[in-house]
Amino acid sequence: MIDLHIRPEQPGDVQAVSSLLRTAFAGHPHSDHTEHLIVERLRAHGRLALGLAALLPDGELVGYVAFSKVAVDGADLGWYGLGPLAVRPRTQRQGVGRALVEAGLACLRRRADARGCVVLGEPEYYRRFGFAADPALRFPGPPTDYFMALSFAGPAPTGSVAYDPAFTG
Ligand SMILES: CC(C)(COP(=O)(O)OP(=O)(O)OC[C@H]1O[C@@H](n2cnc3c(N)ncnc32)[C@H](O)[C@@H]1OP(=O)(O)O)[C@@H](O)C(=O)NCCC(=O)NCCS
Repeated sequence: MIDLHIRPEQPGDVQAVSSLLRTAFAGHPHSDHTEHLIVERLRAHGRLALGLAALLPDGELVGYVAFSKVAVDGADLGWYGLGPLAVRPRTQRQGVGRALVEAGLACLRRRADARGCVVLGEPEYYRRFGFAADPALRFPGPPTDYFMALSFAGPAPTGSVAYDPAFTG
């Protein structure tokens, strides 16, 4: 396991976060390569609910995860969306992604308003954290098993999920 420090992003991380997101998603088949812009827009509008950075002991930023509020049938029900999540290619498969997701979910669970989290991604990767497709929470577009939910307490609400407008430009 790699020696990592995980902490909330700081103003001085902004360039490194953008560079990391561009690099990590460069060859990704389902990416439109705008992940760095999504985070920049969330930040600019004060709607980046949580941004966590993973750093090596020398201070190099090698991983990042963002969380923002999602709406369920247009309402804020205390649900968050995980993403983007990225790890620098040469430090992938060493637990950085896992550490970021676990730390982020732990932070959210401590928030009084937080009821759960959704993610759009590879089921094989996200199910290890407890995410699972839930027919109650719909997200139009991608195959249903790629959109997953993790409730922090009780069943998930029923409805259609919308990410922050920053995700669409
Ligand atoms: C996906 C990503 C964040 C995972 O981070 P990571 O630090 O490499 O992952 P971890 O070390 O925590 O976990 C590694 C495990 O995840 C698996 N894994 C990694 N990427 C995966 C993927 N896209 N689909 C399924 N499994 C994946 C590995 O096979 C490995 O499994 P193992 O533990 O059984 O060997 C990283 O590969 C990345 O930045 N990829 C490019 C950007 C991206 O795809 N982001 C997620 C979009 S939803």
